[in-house]
Formats: sequence, structure tokens, C-alpha cells
Amino acid sequence: MNTVTYQIEEIDAKETDAAITYAADVLRCGGLVVFPTETVYGLGGNALDPAASAKIYAAKGRPSDNPLIIHIADPKDAEAYTYTDPLYDSLAEHFMPGPLTVIMEARDNVPREVRAGLPTVAVRCPAHPLANRLIRAAGVPIAAPSANLSGKPSPTEGRHVRADMDGRVDVILDGGAASIGVESTIVKIEKDGGLLLLRPGGITVDDLRAVCPDIRVADAVTGALKEGQTVLSPGMKYRHYAPDAPLFLLDGDTEARIAYVKNAKGRVAVLSYREELPLLSDRDDLILLDVGGRQDTATQAHRLFSLLRDADALSPDVIFAPLPSMEGMGLALYNRMIRAAAHQILKL
Ligand code: TXA
Ligand code: MG
Repeated sequence: MNTVTYQIEEIDAKETDAAITYAADVLRCGGLVVFPTETVYGLGGNALDPAASAKIYAAKGRPSDNPLIIHIADPKDAEAYTYTDPLYDSLAEHFMPGPLTVIMEARDNVPREVRAGLPTVAVRCPAHPLANRLIRAAGVPIAAPSANLSGKPSPTEGRHVRADMDGRVDVILDGGAASIGVESTIVKIEKDGGLLLLRPGGITVDDLRAVCPDIRVADAVTGALKEGQTVLSPGMKYRHYAPDAPLFLLDGDTEARIAYVKNAKGRVAVLSYREELPLLSDRDDLILLDVGGRQDTATQAHRLFSLLRDADALSPDVIFAPLPSMEGMGLALYNRMIRAAAHQILKL
């Protein structure tokens, strides 16, 4: 397939309008468009066209039992595809447009291919202006998973989507680096009126608790699935964001982590807090990657997926990273890191 790529940062307003119009036409005709959002890039198709969903699964190499999020331009549009309730309205009022996805019971007009056969559907209203303009111009909701090849870290920069999706999609709208860098927070509205957190992200548990005190965090967010346990969100069961080299998370204080890394054998890559980089400078064969300041979880989230790709490209034998805390935005980092590391945590 011949992919048309638009570097939005390098073209003027008129050319951007034309690019959006073209991409919207492609969507309406059943084609695929990669577009930026504030979290990560999305691989979009017309959510009301079952054939477009099939193409999305094929382009990503994703099993079709893992449902897609439908992206809408206005939080009110959710009513057309789901049975919304007052809790949805207050979540929308506080957090939309923004990095929150809400799972609710689907109406019959949502193709089963999008829902992967589930009775529910995930809805999100992204805050990125290009995403918003694209959905409006298309005039249909856009079904989109993250625009990475299945198993790769989610793409947060144009170069990542070009590497994964060139030749697999009709259009790439390259809008520069994603501001948040980890995927949206996913919550499910439960029948009893409470919220179940299925994936942590830019909207934290504390943010959500302020709107809905009755919130529970699914076990799989922080731990491995136990034998026989049901998967609440199908995406949770797949190994995710995995770099080619084995990744180990170091659970210990600064001193213990530094000592461990200095003694590790082979070609070693280290994701390190900025303050700790100087402590590793006397071992000069290390591949050092700056994840941002220790307390600066927003920067860490912004860089994480990009660093995992960069680390991979340098072909290390092993990658080490500090185990994130579970506080605030830390929970999103923790959740992504334990998957990338296939749950390999070294207690120091
Ligand atoms: O930030 C984001 O959410 C990005 C951007 C592009 O919007 N999208 C994204 O999509 O991360 P994806 O497909 O990579 O992750 C969506 C997750 C998957 O783990 C999927 O299993 C889960 O949402 N999901 C979707 N519909 C669901 C449903 N009805 N019930 C439970 N989980 C669902
Ligand atoms: Mg994904």
C-alpha cells in the first residue's frame, strides 16, 4: 500500500486543511488513517464499517478478540453508540475532551468487530486538535487502537508510526510528539454505579475518586493474572510494549540500584532518573537513557515508550529500569513497565 504522509508541523494552515479533508475522505471510503492524539498515535478507521475494523486488526497484526476504542468529537456523541448515564455525564464534564476512555453498554449500531463480540464498547473524546478536526470532518466515529505493530511500544512520535505503519495504512498525519505519552485511562461503569479502573493513564485514580468515590482498581493493573482468572479487558492478557532485549525492573533504593547496574555483565542499557545519571558515569560502557527527574512522572510518561524503542535500536543484551512508584501518574508507568518487563522485578 502506498502511504501518504503529511508532516503537519512543516505545512501551512491551508495545506493542513487539505490534509484533514483528504484523510477524512479516506476514512469515509473505508481506508485507514494514523492520527495524533494527546496520549499516543491512533490507527483509525470508520467505526461504523466492519470492514475497516478488519483492516485495522490486519495492519496492526492484532488478534481480533481485542476490542477497539471509538473516538468521538464531542462527549455528547457517546449517547448515539452507548447507553450513557449521569456518571458518564459527570466524567465527561470533568475530563473530556481528554485522556479518559469510558466503557459502557453498546447500542446495536456498534459493529461486533469493533467490540470484539463484547456487549460493551469503549468511548473516548481526544483533546488533540488534529484528532478532533479529523473526527468532525469524517462525520463518523473513528475506531482506533494505538498505532504500533502489536507487541511494540505505543507510538508517541511521527518517526515511530512511520517505522511501524508505512505501507500498511493509507494516510499518516504526523503531528509531532504526543504530549502525554501513555495511553488513556480506561474505566468501566459498573452496573452498581461504581467505576472499575482497567488501565491507569493521564487521569489518575485520585482525579477520578474526586468525581466518583466508588472506584476500584482491577487486579491486573498492578499484578500478573493468576491461572484461571477472567480477563476483564482483553488487552490485559497480551505481552505488551515489549523491547527485544530482556527488561528488568530494579526494586531498591538508589544505592542498591546503582551498585547492581555497575556490576551487571554484557552490553547494558539503563533507564535512569536524571539525578542518578552522574552516579553511573564511571562505568563508561553503559548505554544511559534519561527518563526525567525522579519526581517528574509527567516527563517520565512522555518519554517512556520512546526510550524503550531507542533502547531496542541500540541492541543491548539487557535493559534495566527503576521500578516506578504506584502514586499518581506513577501507577500508569508501573502498569506499562511491568508489562514491558514481562513481570521481571528484581528485589534488591
Ligand atoms: O490513549 C488511547 O486510549 C489510545 C489512543 C489512540 O486513543 N488508544 C489505545 O487503544 O490505547 P488500544 O486499542 O491500544 O487499547 C485499548 C484497550 C485495549 O486493552 C482493549 O482491550 C481495551 O481498551 N478495551 C476496548 N474496548 C473494551 C471493552 N469493551 N471492554 C474492555 N476493554 C476494552
Ligand atoms: Mg495499544
